[in-house]
Amino acid sequence: MSAAPKKDKVIIFDTTLRDGEQSPGATMNLDEKLQIARMLAKMKVDVIEAGFPIASPGDHDAVKAVASEIEGPIIAGLARSLEKDIERAASAVKPAKKPRIHVFLATSPIHRQFKLEKAKDEILKQAVWAVKLAKGYVDDVEFSPEDASRTEPEFVCEVVQAVIEAGAKTVNIPDTVGYAVPDQYALLIRTLKEKVPNINKAVISVHCHNDLGLAVANSLAAVRAGARQVECTINGIGERAGNASLEEVVMAMRTRSDFFDHVATGVETKHLMAASKLVSNATGIHVQRNKAIVGENAFSHEAGIHQHGVLKERTTYEIMHPEDVGVEKSKLVLGKHSGKHALGERLKELGYELNKKQLEDAFERFKNLCDKKKTIYDADLVALVEDQLVHGSPVWELELLQVSSGNKSLATATVILRKTSEGAGKKDEPQRFQDAAIGDGPIDALTNAIDRITGVPGKIMDYQVRAVTEGREAQGEVDVKVDFEGNVVHGRGFSTDIVEASAKAYLNAVCRAIMQGSSDVKSAERPGHVPPKPVGATP
Ligand code: KIV
Ligand code: ZN
Repeated sequence: MSAAPKKDKVIIFDTTLRDGEQSPGATMNLDEKLQIARMLAKMKVDVIEAGFPIASPGDHDAVKAVASEIEGPIIAGLARSLEKDIERAASAVKPAKKPRIHVFLATSPIHRQFKLEKAKDEILKQAVWAVKLAKGYVDDVEFSPEDASRTEPEFVCEVVQAVIEAGAKTVNIPDTVGYAVPDQYALLIRTLKEKVPNINKAVISVHCHNDLGLAVANSLAAVRAGARQVECTINGIGERAGNASLEEVVMAMRTRSDFFDHVATGVETKHLMAASKLVSNATGIHVQRNKAIVGENAFSHEAGIHQHGVLKERTTYEIMHPEDVGVEKSKLVLGKHSGKHALGERLKELGYELNKKQLEDAFERFKNLCDKKKTIYDADLVALVEDQLVHGSPVWELELLQVSSGNKSLATATVILRKTSEGAGKKDEPQRFQDAAIGDGPIDALTNAIDRITGVPGKIMDYQVRAVTEGREAQGEVDVKVDFEGNVVHGRGFSTDIVEASAKAYLNAVCRAIMQGSSDVKSAERPGHVPPKPVGATP
C-alpha cells in the first residue's frame, strides 16, 4: 500500500490583535486580548501577532502579557524599520518561548515618493539594516515590503533577496491596499520562487486586504503558487475592509483538500465559532448574518426544497459539517440548579477561562439571571460573562438609573454612578455621585446625565440594540461607538432592560476612553469640569 503523500504545512499567522485591532473603534483591553490569545493557542494557530509595541505603552504591555502567558504559538511584535520600534518590539516579545520580530518598510513607488521620500537604494539599505538589528534580539525575523503588490516585481525580488541574506526567515508579501487580483498575485509569488536565488532559505508569506473582496481568494491563489504562511484575522477584521478571514482560508483548504491536496493547516477548526464570537464581542464588530463559515445563516436552510434535500441527504446542500466549525444548535445548557463547576466548564468551552474571583462573580450573576429568565442559553452565558469582563475594572460603574420619557414629555434621567478607582493601579474607596439631565429621548437624557458626572463628554456615532436570544424575556445587548473628541471607542452593555443596557454600554465606552487616553482619570475630563458633590458628602 502506498503512503499518503506528505503535505506541506501552511503556517497560519493570526493578526487579529494587531491588524484586526486597527479596525476603526475596535480597540480591545488587556483582558480581552488575553482571552483571544488563549483561544488562538487552543485553536493551534502557528503565529500570533500580538500587537505593534511602539504604538502605545498599552500595546507594548499587551504584547508582553501575551508573550509571558501564551505557550505553543510563536508570538510576534510588529516594528517599522526604525531603531526605537525594533527595540520596543524586542522588549515586548522577550518573555515568549518562541519570539518573532516582524519588521516592515514600504517599497512601492507611491510610498517611496510620497510617504518615505526615499530612493530604491536607500530603501534596500534600510531594510537590510533593520533585519540585522532585529536579528541581534531574536533569531526569528520576518520582513514585509509594505505595498508589495504595487511595487515593481524586480524590486520586490531585489529586496526579498537582500533581507533573506540579512537573516529574515519569513518574507511576507503584503497586498496592503487590497489591489491585487488572484492570477496576478499568484504570478508575483511564482516570480519570487523563480527569480530569487536564496528564496528556499525563507518561508513566503502572504498578507491580503479585502478592499475588493478578494483577500481570501488572493491568499489561496498564493498558496497554490507556493506561499506557505497566510496572515489573516478572525472574522476578517482589519484596516478598512479588513484582512483575509482566518476561518475562510482554513475551511477552504480543508473542505477542498482535493484541490489543495499538497497542503494543510494545523488549525483545530471546531473552535472557529467560539473564536468568532469572542472577537466580535471584544471589538463590537458584529459578524454579518450571511458571512461564510461563522455567520448566523451559514448553516441554515430557508427554502423548502433545500430543507427537504438536507433532511434526506445532508450533502445535497451542505459542503461542511456545522460541528466541524463548532456550530451547535442553541440549547438549554444550564439552569437554576446548576453548580459553579458546571458553569465554569461550560464557559471554558465557550472560550472564557475565568479566575476564581471572576467565576464567583459570574456565578452570582448567573443565579440572578436565573431569577429573571427561565431558559438560559449559551448566548446568555456569553452575554453574562462579557458584561462582567467588559466592565472588569471600571473607573465608573452604574448604581442607579431612573428614566422617564414619553411622546409628549421631555425625557429626563437621574443617574447614580460609583467611581471605583482613580485610574490604573490606585484603588480608592468608591465614591457615589448623582445628577440628572434632560434630553431629546431617554438615551440622550441618560448620556447627558452621565457626562455631567464624569466630565468626559462623548458623542454617540453608532447605536445598535439586539436581543441576545429569542423570546420576550431575552436579554438585550447594546453596542455603541462613541466619539470622544476624535477618539472613537466602542462600548457594550447587557441587561434584560435595554435602557439600562444602553447606560452600561455608554459608560463602558467612557471607561475605555479614560483607560486608553491616560492612567489619570482627571486628565481625561473636560477642562473646567466641576463634578457634583459625592452623595453623602457634607456640603
Ligand atoms: O497591510 C500591510 O502591509 C501590513 C504590514 C505591516 C504587513 O499590515
Ligand atoms: Zn495589513
